[in-house]
Amino acid sequence: MAPGLQSFAQYAGLAMARGAGCTLYDEDGNEYIDFIAGIGVGSVGHCHPHYVEALKRQVERLTFGSFTTETRARFLELLGSLTPEGLTRIQMFSGGAEAVEAALRLAKAATGKREVIGFWGGFHGKTGGVLGLLGSEFKHHLGPFMPGQYLSPYADCYRCPLRLRYPDCGIACAEYLRDVIRYQTAGEIAAIIVEPIQGTAGNVVPPDGFLRAVQAIAREHDALLIADEMLSGFGRTGAMWGCEHDGVVPDIMTVGKGMGGGFPLSGVISTDELTSKKPWSNPSASSSSYGGNPLAAAAGLAALQIIVKEDLVANADRVGRAMLAGLEAMKDKHRCVGEVRGKGLMLGIELVADRKSKEPIAREFTRTLYQECLRRGLVAMTYSHAIRINPPLVIREETALAGLAILDEALEATSQAHGLR
Ligand SMILES: Cc1ncc(COP(=O)(O)O)c(C=O)c1O
Repeated sequence: MAPGLQSFAQYAGLAMARGAGCTLYDEDGNEYIDFIAGIGVGSVGHCHPHYVEALKRQVERLTFGSFTTETRARFLELLGSLTPEGLTRIQMFSGGAEAVEAALRLAKAATGKREVIGFWGGFHGKTGGVLGLLGSEFKHHLGPFMPGQYLSPYADCYRCPLRLRYPDCGIACAEYLRDVIRYQTAGEIAAIIVEPIQGTAGNVVPPDGFLRAVQAIAREHDALLIADEMLSGFGRTGAMWGCEHDGVVPDIMTVGKGMGGGFPLSGVISTDELTSKKPWSNPSASSSSYGGNPLAAAAGLAALQIIVKEDLVANADRVGRAMLAGLEAMKDKHRCVGEVRGKGLMLGIELVADRKSKEPIAREFTRTLYQECLRRGLVAMTYSHAIRINPPLVIREETALAGLAILDEALEATSQAHGLR
């Protein structure tokens, strides 16, 4: 394989043999608690018996083509019972970026306008149509970008881009969005796209009211609000949808990752009215070769059935709270922990060289930390100063706390090795 694989796999250098629930087993027989879940993909854990059985059954019946199938109909019926009110139409794809691009095409078709605004720190995939909406240095040297894409500061209160403090700031970053529209755009905004919790930026949780303010600004400009729920959807944040935490129902949602429980399945969810707009709704106009194929539908149905039957949304909320309390205790203990945050099982830790300056901790430290975690039996995205913790939603509290105990020990060992205490 070419270099450029996801960092957690590349840095680990491990060959995995199998997985069960929240545990991975490598080819040498070592066990690891999985705090990554394929970066939020493995909602129902590894090889859940119901998921395995459903895919086996489907692979023996029909595997490709976009004809209606009973499995797909059952999947869509269940999905439609879980989406926010009014958002009852889906078009399916296989990757996240592909779904986000389709959402942008839908917004353009529905509004007749062309411009889109995203946020600093945002991530919506790596394809040409969304790279301009990526709010990090990742996009450096990959330009030029699609015209008509703009960015505004996100409500990252730990590292406030406007150097203010919540709540005294009055969510000034939302006000800044008005200025971006006023001074930078042609005033023809089709959509504002936002992650309810920014995943790639480090599971950054905006304060109450931020999403509502963004929605209000979208409305002022007759623009659509696209919530990119790729990571935050299907219960990960302790609510079915990340937007629920701020009482917002977007016009369009982009979904994926946890929806397929590991199978490449993504989608654009919106209203009857918007999805009927042309050219988006013309035959073949919003389709793809694999979108919602019989295997994907079987995976989606099985994953959602497990999420509902095992009440994984409530589990994410409950276990997430216990984990956050554990992380708070780690903050008291390790001075390199600058902040802990999160909702449900979408948790983040900021490692800093100095709590006052908030300078991110050195990369050498996080590389050591990653290895110290692996050595003790934990795979977690600890190779960056903005650690993201997103285990499968089926994780039990004792496993979650056992994983945190490993992280605690690994932090201790790494701090000692790097002369931090
Ligand atoms: C919020 C969000 N949107 C879109 C994507 C892109 O998904 P994919 O990697 O499947 O293209 C990601 C991937 O991490 C994501 O986190």
